[in-house]
Amino acid sequence: MASALKKRGASTSSEAVEVLIDGDRIQRRVRELGRQITRDYKGRDLVAVSVLKGSFIFAADLVRVIDLPLTVDFLRVSSYRDGTESSGSVRLELDLTQPIKGRDVIVIEDIIDTGHTVHALMETLRTKKPASLAICALLHKPEREQVHVGIDYLGFTIPNKFVVGYGLDHAGQYRNLPYVGALGSTE
Ligand code: IMP
Ligand code: MG
Repeated sequence: MASALKKRGASTSSEAVEVLIDGDRIQRRVRELGRQITRDYKGRDLVAVSVLKGSFIFAADLVRVIDLPLTVDFLRVSSYRDGTESSGSVRLELDLTQPIKGRDVIVIEDIIDTGHTVHALMETLRTKKPASLAICALLHKPEREQVHVGIDYLGFTIPNKFVVGYGLDHAGQYRNLPYVGALGSTE
């Protein structure tokens, strides 16, 4: 056990994480998004849909600064990847638990990279006939865009770097970092 832990530590220590967006800046932006959504959805029937796993921390912070009645649901998709890029088809691994027909849905995503995942997800959700469907993404990498998706609420635009932290992972690790950082090897 001890040696397994040590080995894991040793294998990740060569990966340096450079802080791109610190925790305070994230929280300030999340509060702004919360205020904007609160204004836009007043009197509506709001469902906040968190796309697992990457958006779980962002969604938890965001819903707490939306000052409106709402329900929360989750879904999980896996995108088929062609090398490092998603190919455009997604598989729903975990579906919503409530009908969204006639309701106002905000999909909460961690990051929009090529755009394929969220584009395919929107197509799927549209078949469930919500009254409205909006996207709220923490991060967007415009340089990588292959499919254009209108992002209704966006936290930050970032350069073309692989990022981790605040919910985002690399091989399952780093989700617990309280900031968004760029991953790069020190060697
Ligand atoms: P897309 O279909 O290319 O837009 O890919 C979106 C998904 O790929 C995101 O929801 C993430 O799960 C993952 N992803 C893309 N870029 C990054 C990154 O820089 N760090 C961590 N995950 C990423
Ligand atoms: Mg994701």
